[in-house]
Amino acid sequence: MVSQNINTKYRYMQEADIEISRDIEINSNPVPWTEKNFLDCLRKEYYCLIQELDKEVSGFAIQTISLDESHLLNIGIREEFRNKGLGQDLLDQIVHASKSMGSKKIFLEVRVSNEPAIELYSKSGFKRVSIRKNYYRLPDGREDALVMSKRLKKPWKLF
Ligand SMILES: CC(C)(COP(=O)(O)OP(=O)(O)OC[C@H]1O[C@@H](n2cnc3c(N)ncnc32)[C@H](O)[C@@H]1OP(=O)(O)O)[C@@H](O)C(=O)NCCC(=O)NCCS
Repeated sequence: MVSQNINTKYRYMQEADIEISRDIEINSNPVPWTEKNFLDCLRKEYYCLIQELDKEVSGFAIQTISLDESHLLNIGIREEFRNKGLGQDLLDQIVHASKSMGSKKIFLEVRVSNEPAIELYSKSGFKRVSIRKNYYRLPDGREDALVMSKRLKKPWKLF
Protein backbone atom coordinates (compact mmCIF):
# COMPACT_ATOMS: atom_id res chain seq x y z
CA MET A 1 0.00 0.00 0.00
CA VAL A 2 1.49 3.33 -1.01
CA SER A 3 1.57 6.03 1.68
CA GLN A 4 -1.38 8.38 1.54
CA ASN A 5 -0.25 11.95 2.07
CA ILE A 6 2.84 12.21 -0.12
CA ASN A 7 2.28 13.65 -3.56
CA THR A 8 4.72 11.42 -5.43
CA LYS A 9 4.47 10.33 -9.05
CA TYR A 10 6.08 7.24 -10.55
CA ARG A 11 7.23 6.49 -14.07
CA TYR A 12 9.63 4.10 -15.76
CA MET A 13 13.26 5.21 -15.94
CA GLN A 14 14.56 6.31 -19.33
CA GLU A 15 18.12 6.83 -20.57
CA ALA A 16 17.70 10.57 -19.92
CA ASP A 17 17.27 9.80 -16.19
CA ILE A 18 20.61 8.03 -15.85
CA GLU A 19 22.58 11.21 -15.11
CA ILE A 20 20.45 12.23 -12.12
CA SER A 21 20.20 8.64 -10.88
CA ARG A 22 23.97 8.38 -11.04
CA ASP A 23 24.23 11.67 -9.04
CA ILE A 24 22.03 10.12 -6.34
CA GLU A 25 24.30 7.07 -6.38
CA ILE A 26 27.45 9.16 -5.98
CA ASN A 27 25.93 10.73 -2.85
CA SER A 28 24.83 7.33 -1.54
CA ASN A 29 27.49 4.69 -2.01
CA PRO A 30 31.25 4.51 -1.44
CA VAL A 31 31.62 2.67 -4.77
CA PRO A 32 28.67 3.98 -6.79
CA TRP A 33 27.11 2.29 -9.79
CA THR A 34 28.46 3.54 -13.11
CA GLU A 35 26.33 4.96 -15.91
CA LYS A 36 26.89 1.65 -17.69
CA ASN A 37 25.39 -0.25 -14.73
CA PHE A 38 22.19 1.82 -15.10
CA LEU A 39 22.19 1.43 -18.89
CA ASP A 40 22.58 -2.36 -18.57
CA CYS A 41 19.53 -2.49 -16.28
CA LEU A 42 17.47 -0.51 -18.80
CA ARG A 43 18.63 -2.67 -21.72
CA LYS A 44 17.84 -5.86 -19.81
CA GLU A 45 14.36 -4.40 -19.18
CA TYR A 46 14.61 -4.64 -15.42
CA TYR A 47 11.90 -2.86 -13.45
CA CYS A 48 13.51 0.61 -13.27
CA LEU A 49 11.42 3.25 -11.54
CA ILE A 50 11.77 7.00 -11.14
CA GLN A 51 10.05 8.81 -8.28
CA GLU A 52 9.10 12.45 -8.78
CA LEU A 53 7.98 15.01 -6.24
CA ASP A 54 6.59 18.28 -7.59
CA LYS A 55 7.94 17.41 -11.05
CA GLU A 56 11.48 16.95 -9.73
CA VAL A 57 13.23 13.58 -9.67
CA SER A 58 13.48 12.63 -5.99
CA GLY A 59 14.59 8.99 -6.22
CA PHE A 60 14.99 5.81 -8.21
CA ALA A 61 14.72 2.08 -7.63
CA ILE A 62 15.65 -0.96 -9.72
CA GLN A 63 14.50 -4.52 -9.26
CA THR A 64 14.17 -7.74 -11.18
CA ILE A 65 10.76 -9.36 -10.90
CA SER A 66 9.95 -13.02 -11.39
CA LEU A 67 7.21 -15.32 -10.15
CA ASP A 68 9.64 -17.08 -7.88
CA GLU A 69 11.33 -14.08 -6.32
CA SER A 70 12.11 -10.45 -6.94
CA HIS A 71 15.49 -8.87 -6.28
CA LEU A 72 15.78 -5.24 -5.26
CA LEU A 73 19.09 -4.23 -6.83
CA ASN A 74 19.24 -0.57 -5.88
CA ILE A 75 17.20 2.22 -4.34
CA GLY A 76 18.14 5.80 -3.59
CA ILE A 77 16.57 9.08 -2.56
CA ARG A 78 18.21 12.41 -3.43
CA GLU A 79 20.08 13.66 -0.37
CA GLU A 80 18.03 16.86 0.03
CA PHE A 81 14.77 14.86 -0.18
CA ARG A 82 15.60 12.32 2.55
CA ASN A 83 13.80 11.87 5.88
CA LYS A 84 10.44 12.96 4.47
CA GLY A 85 8.92 9.54 3.94
CA LEU A 86 9.92 9.31 0.27
CA GLY A 87 12.14 6.23 0.70
CA GLN A 88 9.25 4.44 2.39
CA ASP A 89 6.87 5.52 -0.39
CA LEU A 90 9.29 4.27 -3.07
CA LEU A 91 9.86 0.94 -1.31
CA ASP A 92 6.07 0.51 -0.93
CA GLN A 93 5.77 1.05 -4.69
CA ILE A 94 8.48 -1.54 -5.42
CA VAL A 95 6.90 -4.13 -3.12
CA HIS A 96 3.45 -3.42 -4.60
CA ALA A 97 4.78 -3.94 -8.15
CA SER A 98 6.39 -7.29 -7.25
CA LYS A 99 3.29 -8.45 -5.43
CA SER A 100 0.89 -7.48 -8.19
CA MET A 101 3.04 -9.36 -10.73
CA GLY A 102 2.70 -12.50 -8.65
CA SER A 103 6.14 -12.66 -7.05
CA LYS A 104 6.29 -14.80 -3.91
CA LYS A 105 9.09 -12.95 -2.19
CA ILE A 106 11.49 -10.08 -2.53
CA PHE A 107 15.08 -10.06 -1.38
CA LEU A 108 17.97 -7.62 -1.30
CA GLU A 109 21.53 -7.09 -0.12
CA VAL A 110 22.56 -4.09 1.95
CA ARG A 111 25.90 -2.99 3.42
CA VAL A 112 26.00 -4.05 7.07
CA SER A 113 26.88 -0.46 8.07
CA ASN A 114 23.96 1.10 6.17
CA GLU A 115 21.73 1.72 9.15
CA PRO A 116 19.15 4.02 7.48
CA ALA A 117 18.45 1.43 4.76
CA ILE A 118 18.38 -1.52 7.20
CA GLU A 119 15.92 0.41 9.39
CA LEU A 120 13.74 1.21 6.38
CA TYR A 121 13.67 -2.44 5.25
CA SER A 122 13.03 -3.75 8.78
CA LYS A 123 10.17 -1.29 9.23
CA SER A 124 8.69 -2.61 5.96
CA GLY A 125 8.73 -6.21 7.13
CA PHE A 126 12.01 -7.43 5.64
CA LYS A 127 13.73 -10.05 7.79
CA ARG A 128 17.46 -10.68 8.17
CA VAL A 129 18.37 -13.86 6.28
CA SER A 130 22.16 -14.18 6.14
CA ILE A 131 25.47 -12.41 5.75
CA ARG A 132 27.49 -12.47 2.51
CA LYS A 133 31.11 -11.98 3.50
CA ASN A 134 33.07 -9.30 1.63
CA TYR A 135 30.22 -8.84 -0.86
CA TYR A 136 30.76 -5.10 -1.44
CA ARG A 137 33.85 -3.42 -2.81
CA LEU A 138 34.94 -0.29 -0.91
CA PRO A 139 37.58 2.27 -1.97
CA ASP A 140 39.91 0.64 0.59
CA GLY A 141 38.71 -2.89 1.20
CA ARG A 142 35.49 -4.90 1.32
CA GLU A 143 32.28 -4.86 3.39
CA ASP A 144 29.85 -7.64 4.24
CA ALA A 145 26.29 -7.62 2.93
CA LEU A 146 23.24 -8.35 4.99
CA VAL A 147 20.70 -10.32 2.96
CA MET A 148 17.09 -9.42 3.79
CA SER A 149 13.89 -10.89 2.48
CA LYS A 150 10.14 -10.32 2.65
CA ARG A 151 7.47 -12.89 1.86
CA LEU A 152 4.83 -11.37 -0.41
CA LYS A 153 2.14 -14.04 -0.33
CA LYS A 154 1.02 -16.62 2.15
CA PRO A 155 1.70 -20.15 0.88
CA TRP A 156 -1.31 -22.04 -0.42
CA LYS A 157 -3.02 -24.07 2.29
CA LEU A 158 -5.05 -27.19 1.58
CA PHE A 159 -7.26 -26.85 4.65
C1 LIG B 1 17.76 4.50 2.75
C2 LIG B 1 17.00 5.67 2.11
C3 LIG B 1 16.44 5.21 0.75
C4 LIG B 1 15.86 6.10 3.02
O1 LIG B 1 15.13 7.11 2.34
P1 LIG B 1 14.39 8.28 3.17
O2 LIG B 1 13.48 8.98 2.20
O3 LIG B 1 15.35 9.13 3.87
O4 LIG B 1 13.55 7.40 4.21
P2 LIG B 1 12.14 7.78 4.87
O5 LIG B 1 12.11 9.23 5.22
O6 LIG B 1 11.04 7.26 4.00
O7 LIG B 1 12.20 6.93 6.22
C5 LIG B 1 11.53 5.69 6.33
C6 LIG B 1 12.19 4.89 7.45
O8 LIG B 1 13.55 4.59 7.11
C7 LIG B 1 14.35 4.58 8.30
N1 LIG B 1 15.36 5.65 8.21
C8 LIG B 1 15.45 6.59 7.26
N2 LIG B 1 16.55 7.38 7.48
C9 LIG B 1 17.12 6.90 8.60
C10 LIG B 1 18.29 7.26 9.32
N3 LIG B 1 19.08 8.29 8.94
N4 LIG B 1 18.63 6.53 10.43
C11 LIG B 1 17.87 5.48 10.82
N5 LIG B 1 16.73 5.09 10.16
C12 LIG B 1 16.38 5.79 9.06
C13 LIG B 1 13.40 4.81 9.45
O9 LIG B 1 12.90 3.56 9.88
C14 LIG B 1 12.29 5.60 8.76
O10 LIG B 1 11.07 5.52 9.45
P3 LIG B 1 10.69 6.64 10.56
O11 LIG B 1 10.76 7.94 9.85
O12 LIG B 1 9.32 6.25 10.98
O13 LIG B 1 11.73 6.51 11.63
C15 LIG B 1 17.95 6.90 1.92
O14 LIG B 1 18.63 7.14 3.15
C16 LIG B 1 18.98 6.73 0.84
O15 LIG B 1 18.72 7.03 -0.33
N6 LIG B 1 20.19 6.28 1.19
C17 LIG B 1 21.27 6.11 0.24
C18 LIG B 1 21.00 4.97 -0.72
C19 LIG B 1 20.98 3.63 -0.02
O16 LIG B 1 21.65 3.42 0.97
N7 LIG B 1 20.18 2.72 -0.57
C20 LIG B 1 20.06 1.37 -0.05
C21 LIG B 1 20.80 0.44 -0.93
S1 LIG B 1 20.71 -1.25 -0.30
